[in-house]
Amino acid sequence: MKKKSKRQISLMVVVVVAAILLMITAGVAMTRTSLADDSEPASGQIDKEFTIWARQFDFTPAVITVQQGDYVRVNLKTADVAHGFYIDGYDVNVKVTWGETKSVEFVADKAGTFKIRCSVSCGPFHPFMAGKFVVEQSPNIVPWLIIAGVTAASVLSVGIPAFQLWRNRRNKGK
Ligand code: CUA
Repeated sequence: MKKKSKRQISLMVVVVVAAILLMITAGVAMTRTSLADDSEPASGQIDKEFTIWARQFDFTPAVITVQQGDYVRVNLKTADVAHGFYIDGYDVNVKVTWGETKSVEFVADKAGTFKIRCSVSCGPFHPFMAGKFVVEQSPNIVPWLIIAGVTAASVLSVGIPAFQLWRNRRNKGK
């Protein structure tokens, strides 16, 4: 009798732990998904903001780094003639003339290193006026959580009936 109740308690513990794990998995997955789906930030939720000075024939800063998923704002200014700010692989292209500040906002949804180019013919070295946009990959834990949740659920759905079967047989055998 004492042995049986011990087993039942351990079975209950396993079920409760599995349920908690699944709830955490679902909760985290939903939170992360809703965050990732935000293509428009709520007011004041810009993750990274840069003011970039364009000048014959470079950008300052020349390299900007963000995390994947960041909502980015770039403010572009020129120190001399008209220049552009174009990011390869992103739908970003702004142009400024002297005295202006042009802003562009976008979500850095693709990880990698992308070339920044000037998109206004600004002089003899215009083709060499370039920079780098670096999007660091954020570790995506959602697929792993889903795999862990599904694995736990399948192991338990086989394990619990098997355990019960084994227990019943053992009791019968006595
Ligand atoms: Cu600056 Cu072309």
